[in-house]
Amino acid sequence: MTRAAKQPLVKVKNLVKYFPIKIGAFGSEKAVVHAIDDVSFDIFRGETLGLVGESGCGKSTTGFTILQIYRSTSGSVEFEGVDLASLSKQELRAMRKRAQIVFQDPYSTLNPRMTIGEALAEPMKVHKICPDNEIQGRIAQLIRDVGLNPNVANRYPHEFSGGQRQRICIARALACNPEFIVCDEPISALDVSIQAQIINLLMDIQEKYNLTYLFIAHDLAVVRHISDRIAVMYLGKIMEIAEKKDLFKRPLHPYTKALLSAVPEADPDIERQRQRIILKGDVSNAIDPPSGCRFHPRCAYATDACAQSVPELEDYGDGHQVACLRLDEIAMEEKLETEDA
Ligand SMILES: Nc1ncnc2c1ncn2[C@@H]1O[C@H](COP(=O)(O)OP(=O)(O)O)[C@@H](O)[C@H]1O
Ligand code: SF4
Ligand SMILES: [Mg+2]
Repeated sequence: MTRAAKQPLVKVKNLVKYFPIKIGAFGSEKAVVHAIDDVSFDIFRGETLGLVGESGCGKSTTGFTILQIYRSTSGSVEFEGVDLASLSKQELRAMRKRAQIVFQDPYSTLNPRMTIGEALAEPMKVHKICPDNEIQGRIAQLIRDVGLNPNVANRYPHEFSGGQRQRICIARALACNPEFIVCDEPISALDVSIQAQIINLLMDIQEKYNLTYLFIAHDLAVVRHISDRIAVMYLGKIMEIAEKKDLFKRPLHPYTKALLSAVPEADPDIERQRQRIILKGDVSNAIDPPSGCRFHPRCAYATDACAQSVPELEDYGDGHQVACLRLDEIAMEEKLETEDA
């Protein structure tokens, strides 16, 4: 499918989410967490958009605000052309059956007092997905679809492993026939040995149910397999978005380059040449984010101008968007370094 032929299912435009908080010894001072600031991107129907960035950079807030679990501070989220921020509570509830979320922690997501069958039946009843006499059949089908035996319907969450519970959470997200699922670090809390199984399951059901995903993870290695495109986030801002292949082959933003340098290569020859870029300092505070480019205190290429102006996402061809004021100069500097070497 060409980019022009792709239809956005979700359009995020200039999305902002600030959290007013109290700080100081007795909570006497007020402050604002700039969790996401002027974030814009499209998610095309049927694709997986990976969203990566270090812990605390605003990935979950982006997912929650897209679904309006958190009401946005400003900006808009259009779902098939409808601005979700303009919907009433009741209208949002009706929309929720079309847009679901799978959380990081499958342990706290399921009610320990409900059997698996009850947990799956609940959203179907709330959203009147099918006649009551069809619910048991649908539960059995959903459980089979996520690779479990339908006889688990009578059991309780504590009887299952982390991986099995995440399968059940995925079945619950599927119960309302959604079109869009936010997968918020769905494998981060799981044993490494079963992470690939859950990724493969998500890919299988995406095809079977024609789903669109926003897949959130804190490292690029995890989103590599499942994503069609990848957005890189830093301190509440999108720094780069590109087709997966393009991003891995031609990362342009200095932050993406650093993230990518941490990803091991399967090819031993390439892996031997991999040079890790260690960023100076820590991620800045979202209460008082740096001026200009938020990455400037850690960027090896920063100049005074980077602390003054906020870089906008600009298209460098084929939808490869980057927010950096010095991209052309950096490319030139790197070219000269390669020639000198
Ligand atoms: N409910 C909240 N109240 C106040 N601050 C929050 C809340 N949720 C998230 N934050 C803050 O917003 C920033 C982004 O958090 P989050 O979206 O959870 O990041 P990530 O998912 O990338 O780890 C962090 O600084 C975090 O502390
Ligand atoms: S705008 Fe400046 S600080 Fe930001 S990434 Fe580009 S060079 Fe680095
Ligand atoms: Mg998170």
